[in-house]
Amino acid sequence: MKAAVYEGPRTVAVKDVPDAKIEHPCDILVKITSTNICGSDLHMYEGRTSFEPGRVMGHENLGRVVEVGSAVRKVQVGEYVVLPFNIACGFCKDCERGLTNFCLTMRPERSKGGAAYGYADMGPYQGGQAELLRVPYGDFNALRLGEDAVERQLDYVMLSDIFPTGYHATEMAGVKPGDQTLVMGAGPIGLMAAYSAILRGAGRVWVADRHRDRLRVAEEIGAIPIDINKEDPVEVVKEATFGLGADNGCECVGYQAHDAEGHEDASLALNVLIDAIRFGGQIGVVGVFLPRDPGGAEAQGELAARGKIPIDFGLLWSKGHRLGTGQAPVKRYNRALRDLIAGGKAEPGFVVTQELKLDEAPMAYEHFDARDDGWIKVVLHPNGTSETRR
Ligand SMILES: NC(=O)c1ccc[n+]([C@@H]2O[C@H](COP(=O)([O-])OP(=O)(O)OC[C@H]3O[C@@H](n4cnc5c(N)ncnc54)[C@H](O)[C@@H]3O)[C@@H](O)[C@H]2O)c1
Ligand SMILES: [Zn+2]
Ligand SMILES: [Zn+2]
Repeated sequence: MKAAVYEGPRTVAVKDVPDAKIEHPCDILVKITSTNICGSDLHMYEGRTSFEPGRVMGHENLGRVVEVGSAVRKVQVGEYVVLPFNIACGFCKDCERGLTNFCLTMRPERSKGGAAYGYADMGPYQGGQAELLRVPYGDFNALRLGEDAVERQLDYVMLSDIFPTGYHATEMAGVKPGDQTLVMGAGPIGLMAAYSAILRGAGRVWVADRHRDRLRVAEEIGAIPIDINKEDPVEVVKEATFGLGADNGCECVGYQAHDAEGHEDASLALNVLIDAIRFGGQIGVVGVFLPRDPGGAEAQGELAARGKIPIDFGLLWSKGHRLGTGQAPVKRYNRALRDLIAGGKAEPGFVVTQELKLDEAPMAYEHFDARDDGWIKVVLHPNGTSETRR
């Protein structure tokens, strides 16, 4: 089968690799029809992780089931399914508690929780930027889609990661009807957090970034854009809230946050939130931070490369903020969000700016990594586009 393979920093090649296949009676095999490139893929693409050359990328996957293992009972051949990026067993202590993001059995190293497709330091699983994907524990991990799956793939494929992750940010931030919410970052995750805050009834949502194309999309969904090249989000928010600050905030940037000159400082967006959120407020951090950033010493220094980041903890403490962090447990939200899409109440596919063939992945990675104008969310169709148009 063809797949997008990581070959080293800033090199992805589309190559022939051995076909994915059923390896365990609980596996299902999915012919991938839509698979997204994610901001998280860029951490690997840029050589900023321990991702091994030769691995297949892609953790945001949707497709049609073509084979099921002998122990699979629910999922059937021919059905369309969307797969959470977390791979989980369903029977360990963490899965039982709903923490599929920290599943204890899907990793060879028992001390480490949480697995994903085609991802650094999250187990040996291949990604779905390929013609076929092996899905462990298919009955538990696959979310089945209805008859509108084919024509609404651009909406449903966002259930694999960014829609539930954006929603998780608002859940950790405790966004309630009428709230004022500041979202840092207008990438796909920030846009989904803003969209989720609006779905939850927030009264006012600001989104801060420096890319005008992304801010324009934020404005189109009803958020207030803050261009950080021109305005300080802390001032904008305080000015609009009698100096008190927003009720809550979402960090959707992560450890590669940077200033206008491109200088990286992992704490930039988080410190803006600590300053801009009112006393007693909540902050949901879904932007990725790593305990080790192998390529990061040059960009941010030795301490940051070991995950030690200068956040304004004194201010955070004195304001009594609550901070939520971590990978999103996609399964906690994806069924409900699917039903919002099916019921015509949510259309997260609005973020898609490019639909491309798998062969175009190397070019797409280049543009997306450069945050080129108009490259917000890329969907690859490894098995052609004929089945997938709206
Ligand atoms: N927790 C999870 O489960 C989960 C899942 C998916 C992605 N993520 C992470 O979420 C983060 C965002 O993902 P994405 O796909 O939107 O990535 P992205 O890189 O496309 O978007 C990040 C945005 O942040 C902006 N930015 C950079 N510095 C900033 C600053 N100082 N202030 C404001 N904005 C700034 C960038 O301009 C960019 O538009 C990444 O760290 C990604 O790895 C987490
Ligand atoms: Zn992702
Ligand atoms: Zn588990």
